[in-house]
Amino acid sequence: MDKVYVHGYDSRENRRLKDQANTLVDLLHSDTSYADGSRILEVGCGVGAQTLTLARNSPNASFLSTDIFEDSLTEARGALVSSGLSNVQFLLADIFNMNLEKQSFDHVFVCHFLEHLSQPDNALAILQDLIKIGGTITVIEGDHGSAYFYPDSDAAQKTIQCQVELQKRTGANANIGRELYSLLKGAGFSSTNVSPRMVYVDSSSPGLVEGFTKNTFIAMIEGVRESSIAAGLIGETTFDEGIRDLYRTTEQDGVFCYTFFKAIATKQ
Ligand SMILES: C[S@@+](CC[C@H](N)C(=O)[O-])C[C@H]1O[C@@H](n2cnc3c(N)ncnc32)[C@H](O)[C@@H]1O
Repeated sequence: MDKVYVHGYDSRENRRLKDQANTLVDLLHSDTSYADGSRILEVGCGVGAQTLTLARNSPNASFLSTDIFEDSLTEARGALVSSGLSNVQFLLADIFNMNLEKQSFDHVFVCHFLEHLSQPDNALAILQDLIKIGGTITVIEGDHGSAYFYPDSDAAQKTIQCQVELQKRTGANANIGRELYSLLKGAGFSSTNVSPRMVYVDSSSPGLVEGFTKNTFIAMIEGVRESSIAAGLIGETTFDEGIRDLYRTTEQDGVFCYTFFKAIATKQ
């Protein structure tokens, strides 16, 4: 893996990834399904939070889902078995050291993955080699610069910035969503289409308040409290004030907005 994976691998993070995936299924996946018989590579599948939706939406396609962390793959395998799906195989592999045949996949799918790499351009070049001519890559990434909310709060923005900075120090990029077009063009893909997928949350959608604002976004920022303070990025008081202000956006009159970017590009 590229240096330190900023979110870690504990059970809280695994639950957070599943909450995120379950809450955003329609927003992120409604336009993703693959033709019968096609073969798809999913890299960085983690605990399978996206894998289940992919496999369910394309029951007659076959998936190879990879990750660098064995425990996550074990959990993903278990989730697949529990769901009764059987069209996914799992592989323990580092994207930079995969032993897969060139042009052997019809499509590639990655989600919340490039943001953790210091060389997303190299990763895309590797993936491009694995796709057949005319095949596609789908990339979904967030961008923490897209988080804004009511009531606004300097302290909350500072806590979010801690996550961005910590990720930057590992060589990764929490604001990568806005770069997808450039990265895919640079990797030589054609007809790159990027669509912003905004999550808008107010108290009239209690499912999103819980599933997205609290259990996905705030949980992620809470997860970097100790490392941000230890790194001297912020004081305890400001961090805790920022978290309180983020929770304030989940009250009756609060609003929280965040944008994911979904790119689909073709290999020619
Ligand atoms: C934020 S998780 C996303 C998991 C899943 N795609 C999702 O959307 O829930 C990023 C995943 O990328 C994996 N990963 C990080 N670096 C990797 C590498 N070099 N090769 C393969 N997987 C890697 C991590 O182990 C982790 O499971």
